[in-house]
Amino acid sequence: MTVKLGLWDVRIREDLVAFEPYAWEPSTEEIAKEHGLRPEKVIRMDTNVSPYRPAAVMGRIAQELGKMKVNQYPDTSYRELREAMADYVKWDANCIVPTNGADEAIDIVSRTYLTRNRNAVSPVPTYSYFRVSTELQGAQFRGVVRGHGFYEDVDAILAACDENTSVIWLCDPNNPTGNGLKLGTIERLCEETDALIVVDEAYHEFSGTTAVNLLSDHENLCVIRTLSKAFGLAGMRIGYLVSNEEVVAELNKARPPNSIGTVNARCGEIALRSHNYVRRDVERLVRERERIRSELSKVEGLRVYPSSANFLLIRFLSYDARQVKRSLLRRGIVVRSFDGNPYLNDCLRVTVCSKPENDRFLKTIGTALTESIRT
Ligand SMILES: Cc1ncc(COP(=O)(O)O)c(C=O)c1O
Repeated sequence: MTVKLGLWDVRIREDLVAFEPYAWEPSTEEIAKEHGLRPEKVIRMDTNVSPYRPAAVMGRIAQELGKMKVNQYPDTSYRELREAMADYVKWDANCIVPTNGADEAIDIVSRTYLTRNRNAVSPVPTYSYFRVSTELQGAQFRGVVRGHGFYEDVDAILAACDENTSVIWLCDPNNPTGNGLKLGTIERLCEETDALIVVDEAYHEFSGTTAVNLLSDHENLCVIRTLSKAFGLAGMRIGYLVSNEEVVAELNKARPPNSIGTVNARCGEIALRSHNYVRRDVERLVRERERIRSELSKVEGLRVYPSSANFLLIRFLSYDARQVKRSLLRRGIVVRSFDGNPYLNDCLRVTVCSKPENDRFLKTIGTALTESIRT
C-alpha cells in the first residue's frame, strides 16, 4: 500500500493499513470552540486524571529549574528516580524500569516479548492500549470476555493461551470497568503459563491492592505503575515497571535510553519522596466517587458499577448513552464512550473530579437524561 505524503510516496507496513488506532477525544480548546464555551468551562471527565495539581511539587521544581543542566542528557540509568520509586513500592531499585508514562512501559513489554507469530491474551473489556501495543508488534491480541461483574474468567484465559502466548495483560483495578483483580487469579496464571504476566496498576493508589508482594514467588510477573493518576502528574509522563533482575535486564534492551526528560524525572522523584499529599487527594476522590455513585444509583434506568478506581462505569438501560454523552458535551462536560465495543455500547465512563465539578455533572446529567430517553 502506498500512501501519498506530500512530495514523497511512503510504504507503510501492510498490517497497519486497516489498523484501529487508540481513540482520543479532541482537545479542550477544540471542544470549547465547537460548543461555543470558554475552555475553562469545560470539565474533562474522560481521562481518569486527578483534578488536583500538586502545587508543592511544582513549586520545588520551579525553584530548581534555573540550575538544571538541560543542555546535558539525563542520567540514562535514572538512578535517583529509580531509588525514589523503589522506596515508594518497597522493592529493589535494580528491579525497576522508569518509563515515559505507563504506556511506554506497555510498549517496552511488547517490544521485548511480542512479535509476528506470537500472541498476547487479555480479559476484555480492558485498557485498549494493550491491544494497540500488541498489534503494533505484528502480534495477535486475544481478548477473553470477562464473566459476571466483569471478573476475569481464569479458565477461559488459560484456554486461550497456547505455546505462542508470550504476554497476559491484566489491569487492577480494571479500566474501564473499575473492578479489582483477585491475587489468586494472578498466582494461577503465573503458575500455569510460561507467559509474562503483566499487571497494570495505574489506579493502585485508589484500590490499595498490589501484586508487588507476589514478585518474590513468581519470576514471570511484572507490575506497571504511573504517576499520571493519583499523583496528579499526567502531563509529566512518568511511569515505571517493577519485576525481577532477569526480566528487567531483558526489558532494558528495548528501553529508549533517554525517554524521561531531566525536569520530569526530578519532578517524579520529588513527588514520590513527598507522597503524603497523594493519600489526602485519594481520600477526597474516593469520598466523591461514592457520593456520585449513591446519587446516580437513585436514578431509575441507570446501572452504576462498583469501582475501586477514580472513575465510574455507568450503563444506560433506558436512555441512549450516545445522546447522553452529546448532551453533556454541549454543556461542557466530556465523558468517555465506547462506540463499537460490543460489551460497553450502552455505557459511559465518568472520571471523579473535584466536588464543584462533580456537583455540576450531577446537576447536568438530569437534563441530559431527559433529552435521551430511549423510545
Ligand atoms: C490502565 C491504564 N494504564 C496506563 C494508562 C496510561 O498511563 P500513562 O499516562 O502513565 O501513560 C492509563 C491511562 O488512562 C490506564 O488507564
